[in-house]
Amino acid sequence: MKTGSITLTNIGQLVTNDPERDGLLGIVEDAAVAIEDGRITWVGDAADVPEAAITQDCDGQAVLPGFVDPHTHLVFAGDRAGEFARRLRGESYEQIMAAGGGIQSTVQATRAATLGELTDAALGRVRRLQAAGTTTVEIKSGYGLDLENEKRLLAVAAAAGSAVALDVVPTFLGAHTVPEEFAGAADDYVDYLTEVVLPECAPLARFCDVFCDEGAFTVDQSRRVLEAGKQHGLSPRLHANQLAPSGGAQLAAEVGAISADHLDHIDDDDIAALRASGTVAVLLPGVSFSLRTPQPRGPDLWEAGVTVALGTDCNPGTANIETMPFVVALACLEMGLTPEQAVWSATRGGARALGLEDRGQVTVGARGDLVVLREASYVHLAYRPDFPSVRTVIKRGLVTAG
Ligand code: NIG
Ligand code: FE
Repeated sequence: MKTGSITLTNIGQLVTNDPERDGLLGIVEDAAVAIEDGRITWVGDAADVPEAAITQDCDGQAVLPGFVDPHTHLVFAGDRAGEFARRLRGESYEQIMAAGGGIQSTVQATRAATLGELTDAALGRVRRLQAAGTTTVEIKSGYGLDLENEKRLLAVAAAAGSAVALDVVPTFLGAHTVPEEFAGAADDYVDYLTEVVLPECAPLARFCDVFCDEGAFTVDQSRRVLEAGKQHGLSPRLHANQLAPSGGAQLAAEVGAISADHLDHIDDDDIAALRASGTVAVLLPGVSFSLRTPQPRGPDLWEAGVTVALGTDCNPGTANIETMPFVVALACLEMGLTPEQAVWSATRGGARALGLEDRGQVTVGARGDLVVLREASYVHLAYRPDFPSVRTVIKRGLVTAG
C-alpha cells in the first residue's frame, strides 16, 4: 500500500490514546502531528511543530486515531429488508432463522451472485465506512459455506480493501451456520470444514471465527473448528453468548481467543474468565439496537478491567450498519459507556481485538492513520449522532477521504 508524508497543524483537541499521557484518551490541546512515509514521527504542541512540505490546517477541530472496526460480515449479496419488517411485526431473529431465513437466505443470494456483483457491493460498503473514518476493518467470510464460495468471499474482501487503500484483516467464518446441503448433519459439516475448506482458506485469512450459540454451533463443535484453525495457523476469535448463555465466552477463554464478540448473555463468571484470559470483549451495539434487544454489559466489562472494543458487525441480518461514529453514539446513548470509553474502544480497543499494536493510537512509530472531525471535541460523536462528524481521513499519511 502507498504511503505519504503530511503534517497536521492547528489541532484543537488531539486524542492520542497514549498511556504515557493523562487520562484514558491522552488528550493534547493545541497540537500538531507529523507523519513521514506512513508512520507518525512527531506529536506535540502546535507551537513547536517541525517545518514540513505538506501541511493540513485542522482549523482548531478534533483529531483522533482512525477507527478500527474489528467485526464485519460485509461481503454479501442481497438484503433482508423483508425479514427486518417481519421482526418489527413481532417475529424474533431466532424464529426467522429456525424457519430457514436469516443467514441461510443470504448464503443463497451470495452463492448466486457473480464475482463482479459481490465485489461491487463490498466496494460500496468499504468506501462508505472509510469516508466515515474507519482505517482498518476486519472482514469475515461466512455467507459461502462451501470451499469455492468461502474462498471467493475472502478474495473479495482483500480486493475491496486494496481498491480503496484500507487495511483489511480477513477472518474465516465457515462455521457461521450449517448450510442446507448438510441440514441435520452439523458434525459432518464440521468434518467437511476442518478437512476440506479450512486447509484451502487458511492462507487467505488471519483469524478463525465460529458462531457458537443456540441454533448455531455447540461448544464442542466450535472447539473442533477453532483447534483446527490453530493447526492451520489461524488465531481463534468467536461469536459468543449472542442469543443465549451458550458457553462461548468460557470457550474463548479456554482456547485463548483474541476476542469474544457480542456477549449479550454473560454472567459475572464469564466476565471474570475473559478478564483472566486477556480476551478482548468486542461489543456490537448496533446489533442490539437493530434487534431491539437489551444491550450487552459494556460498563460492567470496563469496570472489571476487561479490554473492550466496539464494532459495527456490518451484515444484512442483525446490523445493516457501516460506520463507526454511529456505533460510538450507540455505545454511549444505548449501552451507557462514557464518551472516553467509547472512543478508546472504537480505536485502540479495535486494534487490540485484531492484535495490531501499531495503530489505534497517535504515538511516534504508529501508523499514520488519523481522522479530522468537523467538531472541536470527540464528545460530539455521541452528542450529534446523525451528523457526519468526520471531515478528513488520513491513511498511512495519505488523504484518502474527505
Ligand atoms: O454477527 N451471529 C451471527 N452472525 C451475524 C448475523 C448474520 C446474519 O444474520 O446474516 C451477527 O449477528
Ligand atoms: Fe457477527
